[in-house]
Amino acid sequence: MPHIWEHAVIIGAGGAIGGALADALIEDKDVRMLHAFSRRAISRAWPSHAITGIMDLEHEDSIAAAAGTVAGAGRPVDLLIVATGLLHTPAQMPEKGFRDLTPQAMAQAFAVNTIGPALVLKHFLPLFNRQRQAVCAVLSARVGSLSDNRAVAVSGGCCIGPAERFARRKHRTQRPVPGL
Ligand SMILES: NC(=O)c1ccc[n+]([C@@H]2O[C@H](COP(=O)([O-])OP(=O)(O)OC[C@H]3O[C@@H](n4cnc5c(N)ncnc54)[C@H](OP(=O)(O)O)[C@@H]3O)[C@@H](O)[C@H]2O)c1
Repeated sequence: MPHIWEHAVIIGAGGAIGGALADALIEDKDVRMLHAFSRRAISRAWPSHAITGIMDLEHEDSIAAAAGTVAGAGRPVDLLIVATGLLHTPAQMPEKGFRDLTPQAMAQAFAVNTIGPALVLKHFLPLFNRQRQAVCAVLSARVGSLSDNRAVAVSGGCCIGPAERFARRKHRTQRPVPGL
């Protein structure tokens, strides 16, 4: 059965993949409402059915506020894509060995890549459409070797670490995860 996504939400709309997916969703005639979140305002022309907002995965209150905006639109969510990710920052290049590790960089990577997407699910899963199949996709990198990278998207969903387990369960069963 084809998916119908009338209300799509994309997080990380300012990134390379997130921006391309936002373009595709804008072109999709079934999408009547698109919420696009990024860490800072994106300078581009948005169509009238697109609503933009700011979200920083390192701050749960900003995730909760974004979910509040989406809930306020009064339309259940059919598609949620989390296209964020942090590999390195200007201050911290990808480490090549244990001597390059710093607790600060590791904590930030965990905050953005693991905890952030899990908190997105915490706040957004209650907004999902229960009347028809909704889809949640969380992009991640399989860190280890760049050539080993794999994006697991709409068909299964994947986050890193703890987020992975309940995201996968949610995606595969399409049933609410107890306690959410
Ligand atoms: N590109 C690939 O070939 C590839 C392959 C496999 C997997 N992936 C995975 O796909 C995802 C997206 O990749 P990409 O190539 O599109 O990366 P990208 O262009 O670097 O985009 C990453 C996005 O994450 C956002 N972000 C970073 N920290 C954030 C935070 N604290 N709160 C909210 N947003 C934050 C960035 O926002 P700012 O713009 O504000 O920095 C940016 O929009 C990543 O998880 C990546 O590991 C990519």
